[in-house]
Amino acid sequence: MRKETEAVHVGVDKDEAYNSVTTPIYMSSSFRFEAVGELPRFHYTRAGNPTRAALEESLAALENGKYAWVTGTGMAAITAVAFLLKSGDHILAPQDIYGGTYRLFQNIMPRFDLSVSFVDMRDLEAVRRARREQTALIWIETPSNPLLRVTDIRGVVQIAAEMGALTAADNTFLSPYFQQPLDLGVDLAVHSTTKYLNGHSDVVGGALITGREDLSAKLGLIVPGLGLSGSPFDSWLVLRGVKTLAARMEAHQKNAFAVARFLEGHERVRRVYFPGLESHPGHELALTQQSGFGGVVSFDLDLDAVSAEKFFANLRYFALAESLGGVESLAAQPWTMSHKTMPPSAREACGLTPGTVRLSVGIEHPDDLLEDLERALGA
Ligand SMILES: Cc1ncc(COP(=O)(O)O)c(C=O)c1O
Repeated sequence: MRKETEAVHVGVDKDEAYNSVTTPIYMSSSFRFEAVGELPRFHYTRAGNPTRAALEESLAALENGKYAWVTGTGMAAITAVAFLLKSGDHILAPQDIYGGTYRLFQNIMPRFDLSVSFVDMRDLEAVRRARREQTALIWIETPSNPLLRVTDIRGVVQIAAEMGALTAADNTFLSPYFQQPLDLGVDLAVHSTTKYLNGHSDVVGGALITGREDLSAKLGLIVPGLGLSGSPFDSWLVLRGVKTLAARMEAHQKNAFAVARFLEGHERVRRVYFPGLESHPGHELALTQQSGFGGVVSFDLDLDAVSAEKFFANLRYFALAESLGGVESLAAQPWTMSHKTMPPSAREACGLTPGTVRLSVGIEHPDDLLEDLERALGA
């Protein structure tokens, strides 16, 4: 089955009672036991739920994995990965990373005696130099949030293999439609399903996918044990969103190319970050490991020519809002929004400025989006 077909069919034909064409929502906390001591497949929704299991089947197929765990948020999925580690372990992560992941690794996990180093993951030699004997996890986020830096997934997997460390890749920005990290040797693909997988900005959710039975068994303890599991209704919404993943990703990408090319030629824009552009330093590498470029475009405003406040205030279709991956276009200032949890020095170290804008390009007509940007840049 090709990805488009998998997205529509896998995990869907589940209703044995009435043969409904879509998967029912099993809104039940509990399921009856046939008899004392006979544990049914589903008994309590934190441990397992038929609607969530349908989504897990769908996501496992899309990521070319065998096992999936659906969580209540993307951060819950990342927390589950952190709990695969033990006290004393060390995490290597990219400098340019989603702010919430930075906060978890830098501010919360040290309480459990885990340490973290942030490296420029575009440089494999820097990754080699930063590793320690205790490095147990290399966290990958490619393309990264928000500067869309591309990490050589195969290269990092090789380094991790040399030292017996686990690899996990946050695949939120591309979705399994454009990138399948497990095929490149990564142990765990991680998602905020809040973004492209759901695609309609009406759910927060997450997922973990692996081909490794041993990791799935550990997650089987961690995800329900820590209470990280996703709800049946949210799972149903994501399952519905996934059916149009292929069509949406193509539409997002088409518009993102139009926006990136427009911004690249604009006098009030200092720099555009979109790996689909040939001018992007990660373009060639991206072509070797991803089959598309997604819908996020970031850029640096020329703050001598236009203020960030005026730019955002004059947008009509791009809503000033956090998140990404929904059908509607959003614009964010990572400096004060998604990456505010990083101290200013860490934001600067990864190349962010108050003039950096992250656009989640939606599926509206591209001409309306370009007109919107032109008006705001001219403000
Ligand atoms: C790349 C990436 N990973 C993880 C997350 C966290 O996901 P959630 O907000 O669903 O907890 C986000 C949220 O913006 C993200 O952009």
